[in-house]
Amino acid sequence: MINSNTSLYAVLGDPISHSLSPVMHNSAFSHIDYNGVYFAFKVEEIGNAITGIRALGIKGAGITIPHKVTVMEFLDEVDNLAKKIGAVNTIVNRKGKITGYNFDFLGAVKALKEKTDIKGKNVSVLGAGGAARAVGYGIISEGGRLTILNRTIDKGEKLAEELESEFCPFSDFKGRKCDILINTTPVGMHPHVRDIPVAKEDIKKGMVVMDAVYSPIKTNLLRVAETKGCVTIDGVSMFVYQGAAQFELWTGKKAPIDLMRKRVLNALGCSS
Ligand code: ATR
Repeated sequence: MINSNTSLYAVLGDPISHSLSPVMHNSAFSHIDYNGVYFAFKVEEIGNAITGIRALGIKGAGITIPHKVTVMEFLDEVDNLAKKIGAVNTIVNRKGKITGYNFDFLGAVKALKEKTDIKGKNVSVLGAGGAARAVGYGIISEGGRLTILNRTIDKGEKLAEELESEFCPFSDFKGRKCDILINTTPVGMHPHVRDIPVAKEDIKKGMVVMDAVYSPIKTNLLRVAETKGCVTIDGVSMFVYQGAAQFELWTGKKAPIDLMRKRVLNALGCSS
């Protein structure tokens, strides 16, 4: 029941209409009888949105594409891990003081470790935005050998340098040794579901292929990887793990993670 004590939360991004954060968090709030409600806002100017959060007393928010890096300059405080990563995907408003956190890191590492070791593996990360920063930092922390590939070369080179890893232009990917391939770009996301971030012939049997895109659950990248016999990891695990960490930060309660996963899978048209 929404009343004058209901706490408001939201996800801020652009595009946002595909987001399943409202489904995931609203079902978790009601499952534990938490008096909260979660919206999705299409935000072009992240600074203005943060001013609005302060003005309206919105309690917390998820931050998504393309604001994970730029949001940081508008916050009162950024937690140490998020600072090291250089990106924020979650904020909390404590009596007007807004602090940023990064749970993409935790989500990506947990999702990967369910299916593969990372230590000593050659890991290629596609993208150099906020999600790539968190995933790349996770790979380095777990002892993986990281290579960054990005459409905009200088942005990719800059991230690779920051993470003391290598940069590889997309055109040179073919000859590169790759055990684990992770897409952090929006390529293949609904509604552009036929797009694929690397050439099909560059996806090789024996690779573990993970996509941070969760809508559709089986992206074209994962579909091709499956036909080649690769181990695949869809974006739902990373999404749900980071969502559970957000939920626990905001409510102080244990996240009903199985229910959250189930609701997300249902919304994606999967039965389990
Ligand atoms: P997020 O915070 O979710 O990572 P972002 O910071 O906007 O979002 O980063 C998106 C990443 O996806 C960037 O690396 C971007 O590449 P550029 O640096 O060249 O912009 C990449 N990306 C977005 N659309 C792409 C496309 N159509 N093809 C290839 N890469 C794309």
